[in-house]
Amino acid sequence: APVQIPDLSRCQLSSASAPRGPPLTLYFNCCLPIPKQPMVDFSFHTYTPTVRRVRRPAHTANAEYIAKINKAYQLMRALPDTDGRSFKAQADIHCSFCNGGYPQKGFQGDIPLQVHFSWLFLPWHRWYLYFHERILGSLIGDPSFALVYWNWDDQKTGGNQVPEMFTPANTAIYEEKRNKNIQPPVIVPLAASTPLNDSNSVKIDKNLNNMYQSVVTASTATLFMGGIVRAGDDLSNASVVNAPLGGGIENGVHNAIHFYVGDSTTQLSQDMGNFATASRDPIFYAHHSNVDRLWEVWRYNLPGGERFDHNDPDFLNAQFVFYDERGRMVRVLAKDALDSKKLGVYYQKGESDDLWINY
Ligand code: C2O
Repeated sequence: APVQIPDLSRCQLSSASAPRGPPLTLYFNCCLPIPKQPMVDFSFHTYTPTVRRVRRPAHTANAEYIAKINKAYQLMRALPDTDGRSFKAQADIHCSFCNGGYPQKGFQGDIPLQVHFSWLFLPWHRWYLYFHERILGSLIGDPSFALVYWNWDDQKTGGNQVPEMFTPANTAIYEEKRNKNIQPPVIVPLAASTPLNDSNSVKIDKNLNNMYQSVVTASTATLFMGGIVRAGDDLSNASVVNAPLGGGIENGVHNAIHFYVGDSTTQLSQDMGNFATASRDPIFYAHHSNVDRLWEVWRYNLPGGERFDHNDPDFLNAQFVFYDERGRMVRVLAKDALDSKKLGVYYQKGESDDLWINY
């Protein structure tokens, strides 16, 4: 059977353990606020896109856009934690569904829900960005507001650095707990095994190779998206370094960015270095927009023609829950996220996709 929404009244502390280094487990209260309004089901009818939201590379954003996104996050941060649209609740959605906040419904004992390490990874995160973006847009009254994507695969025009827009301290899109050694113009490696002090030309070559391995050679849905997870499957022992069902995009370049952006001098490499705190850093959403974009590139734009998503009913009908821009909880299905354009979300082409596609 497909994974279902857990019983939201049964929240427990989320725990995160160190993937590397000395053993350490921290506990977080990521329990989600329950709105007074009843939960609704997503339908394309209710959420019809009126205008296109076009996500562009973060390193090409202009001053007007940067002011706009800062305003939106400022308003989101000002909402009370009890509001599902608040920055805190938004971050807790990631924490609770990745770090064991809710046991799966209908099974003996505690089998935590885990949206990483499997075929749930891409659709869950697409939905997450979709609602996050809608909330930001509605807070500033702009239905065409779109997130930016961190074009880290671009090894030619500067996408492979932390985007400048996220670096000035004391802005609404800045986060203190970030690796201090990767300020631009340092090139961010796309594999945890690539040392930060490799020369630029070596890093660039390795990054292109990592992209090729994570996306192009991952020719099947299982290899790219991740493997089968059904209701009741227990992934509680899986971790970032042991994710047997994780696909190439997740286990490869995606994890590397988390690894490098987290501050390794803090416990658990906060914020980006562990799932419980990753989305407290606004750069998370730009990072995942690129992951989401690469899903489209993989699906449609690689040599050799179209590639195909999983079509197992337990994949298609997997259920998740998010908050919409009215603060309501919305139940969604994985299958409704398979076409990003249907959701009104478009990507401007990456700055140099061809370099790694033809590596
Ligand atoms: Cu939900 Cu990049 O992790």
